[in-house]
Amino acid sequence: MKKKYLLAPGPTPVPEHVALEMAYPMVHHRTPQFSQIFAEAAEGAKYVFETQQDVLLLASTGTGGMEGCVTNLFSPGDKLLVINGGKFGERWGKIGQAYGMNVVWHNVEWGKAADPQEVKKILDGDKDIRGVLVQASETSTTAAHPIKELSELTRGREDVLLIVDGITGVGVFPLPMDEWGIDAMVTGSQKALALPPGLALVALSGKAWRAADKSKCPRFYFDFKKERKNLADKTSAYTPAVSLVIGLRAVLKDIKAEGLANVHKRHNRLARATRAAGKALGLKSIAPDAPADSATGLFVPEGIDGGKLVKFIRDDLGVTLAGGQDHWKGKIVRIAHLGYFDTFDIVIAISALEMALKKFGHKVELGKGVSAAQEILMEAY
Ligand SMILES: Cc1ncc(COP(=O)(O)O)c(C=O)c1O
Repeated sequence: MKKKYLLAPGPTPVPEHVALEMAYPMVHHRTPQFSQIFAEAAEGAKYVFETQQDVLLLASTGTGGMEGCVTNLFSPGDKLLVINGGKFGERWGKIGQAYGMNVVWHNVEWGKAADPQEVKKILDGDKDIRGVLVQASETSTTAAHPIKELSELTRGREDVLLIVDGITGVGVFPLPMDEWGIDAMVTGSQKALALPPGLALVALSGKAWRAADKSKCPRFYFDFKKERKNLADKTSAYTPAVSLVIGLRAVLKDIKAEGLANVHKRHNRLARATRAAGKALGLKSIAPDAPADSATGLFVPEGIDGGKLVKFIRDDLGVTLAGGQDHWKGKIVRIAHLGYFDTFDIVIAISALEMALKKFGHKVELGKGVSAAQEILMEAY
C-alpha cells in the first residue's frame, strides 16, 4: 500500500468533506434546490475575486474561460498585446490568433516578470491596442507578473482592457479586481479552489461589459452576456457542472471562514518556506526576481535528469510534483503550495526532493531543506 501525495500546481488536493459533498446523489439542475446552490456559489465567488460584479460559472477548464474572454470582449482584427513569459502567456496569443485577432507579442524571458515601464511604452506608442492579456502567475515558470502596476496603465484607458489569467493567482495572493480595475479575470476549479477540474470562473468589469456589447467575434458556447442573463435567474445557459458547483459552494464557505487575507498569508508562508528550502539545498530558483506564491520552481543540479527525478519522486516515493516544459523540460522541478495545502505538505515535498537528490547521487545533507522550511513554517504557531 503506497500513500500518495498530490503536490503539483493543479489539479490540487480536494478536502475530504468537499469530496463527500460532491458524492451525494445527482440533483437536477433546473430545480429551485439547485438554483439556490448555484446562486450561493456564484455569490460566494465574488469574495475571492474581490468584486461586486457577477462571477460566471462555466462548465469548462480554465482555458475555456480564457477563450471566452477573447471571443466576448474583442473582434477579429483587434490588436491585443500578449505578455508572453511562458506556456500560458503563449496560450493567450494562440487563442487570439485562432479568432483572427492581431496579436502583438511582448516576449518576456522565462522566469522573469513583465516590466510595466516597457508595457507602458508599447501602449503609449500604439493607440490601436485594445487589450493587455497576462498571467497573474505564469505557472510554467512560477513567476508573478505585476498586475497592480499593469492595471495602473489600463485603468484610465476606456478602450484598453486588462485581461488577467488568474488561474493560479485567484485565491492565492491578492488580486482585488474592483480596487485595481482589472477588466476580466479567470480562474479554474482545480487550483486554489481545491476542486476537481472542470469549472472556469470569470468576472468582468463594467468597462469589459461595455466592450462585450461591441464585440463582433463569433461565439456560441461561451456567451458571457447569455450566461449573465441566466445567472440573474440563478441558472446557467447549459447544463452546469452540478457536482463541481456543489463543491465550489462548500470550498467558498471554508475560504470565507479562514478569511481571504489569511488564505493569502498561508500561501505566502508556504511559498517562502519552500523557497528557503530550495536555497538551503543550493538549488537555483527559476523565478528569483518575482516568485509567485502559487508554486516554487527550482533548477535541478547539473547532470541530473529532472524528468527522471520527478518520475522517481512520483512513482517510488508517491509524491507528485511537476517538471518543466519546452526548453525547461528535464531541467526543473516545481513544488505547488496553493489551495488545500498546509505546513506538512511542504515538509513532505522538500523531504521527498532531498531523498530523490540523494538517490540520484547529488551531495545533499538530508534535512537541510526541511529544517530551513520549518523555520518559516513555524511562524504560524
Ligand atoms: C496560469 C494558467 N493558465 C492557464 C491554465 C490552463 O488551465 P486549464 O488546464 O484548466 O485549461 C493553467 C493550468 O495549469 C495555468 O496554470
